[in-house]
Amino acid sequence: MKIACFAGDGIGPEIMAEARRVLAALDLPGLVVFEGDVGGAAYRRHGHPLPEETLDMARAADGVLFGAVGDPACDALERHLRPEQAILGLRSALGLFANLRPATMFAGLESMSALRPEIAAEIDLLIVRELNGDVYFGEKAMRTLDDGRRQGFDFMSYAEDEVRRIAHVAFRAARGRNGRLCSVDKANVLETSQLWRDVVIETHAEYPDVELSHMYVDNAAMQLVKNPGQFDVVVTGNLFGDILSDQASMCVGSIGLLASAALGERQTQFGTFGLYEPIHGSAPDIAGQGEANPMAMILSLAMLLRHSLGREEDAARVERAVSQALADGVRGGDLGGTAGTREIGDAVLARL
Ligand code: NAD
Ligand code: IPM
Ligand code: MN
Repeated sequence: MKIACFAGDGIGPEIMAEARRVLAALDLPGLVVFEGDVGGAAYRRHGHPLPEETLDMARAADGVLFGAVGDPACDALERHLRPEQAILGLRSALGLFANLRPATMFAGLESMSALRPEIAAEIDLLIVRELNGDVYFGEKAMRTLDDGRRQGFDFMSYAEDEVRRIAHVAFRAARGRNGRLCSVDKANVLETSQLWRDVVIETHAEYPDVELSHMYVDNAAMQLVKNPGQFDVVVTGNLFGDILSDQASMCVGSIGLLASAALGERQTQFGTFGLYEPIHGSAPDIAGQGEANPMAMILSLAMLLRHSLGREEDAARVERAVSQALADGVRGGDLGGTAGTREIGDAVLARL
């Protein structure tokens, strides 16, 4: 079993260290761990946020554990050299088109939600975010119009096969959960979304046992706060999924809790090849202070164990240890507590 670990920038190395301790404690037979550079750290060392050797390392692994990238000192660089290109490049080069972002309430954390506890208690949803298309990967430019005005330009598109493959992932996920799928789009305004909706409806024919509904993204943002318990699986495009998942994190209690899996079609000896990362970023405002909550990173490791290494029992064990730590009142600063990164890691390890 080969895992590639890319810690990245900001709090990335701090939270990765805790996930690595959990991984070491599991003592998996025959496991080999590689470390590679990504993001601003890679730019400084190699002149590029996603060096070829890092990409090769990812390709050779069964799964990739990714911390976070992003560095304010790099914001003035040309876009193709910015740290964020590392994660965008990995998702794209590795064909990781399906992003699973689960958001479930943890027992004992209801009062930490930005929502009223009785509303928050009902949260058990999965956002299936398309990850290889949309306005993220369309042609983009900063240009000057004939009359001298500057114009920013990002082309938004989805081709039907791109929508169909993510729809299949979402229908299958709904089948394995409570059988309900809500497709979120902006079909009242965008052609991209009209195609999205048409293709999701066509694909539904193969999953008659799944209950399908459609919602405009503005309403979805509102409903997520009003009554998040109504959602089982939500499928949406790259941009809407990015925004809604950060919003879902605060419904649960903190962005420091939400993990994710980015999957494609490639199968490995043990499962599906994937990249696993917290949904949050490099948090430059708290980086280097040992304050970051490593739980999202540790829960991402659990997803890697489940999907890429076929170690369901170990995955469940790690998830139980995190849930138990939260139930026992272990709280980082993001949850109004005082536990630091290392202390939270210790608390999870003690419960493994
Ligand atoms: P962010 O997610 O890094 O931080 C938002 C807020 O949440 C900050 O106040 C931060 O301190 C807090 N936060 C995030 N993770 C936390 C944790 N584990 N524990 C406690 N608090 C936490 O978003 P941002 O500030 O908009 O972006 C910072 C940088 O990260 C940018 O360069 C951005 O592009 C990048 N980014 C990268 C990824 C990724 O690597 N996948 C994801 C999102 C943002
Ligand atoms: C995320 C991040 C990334 C995204 C950025 C850093 C490119 O916000 O993983 O949610 O927008 O997908
Ligand atoms: Mn995001």
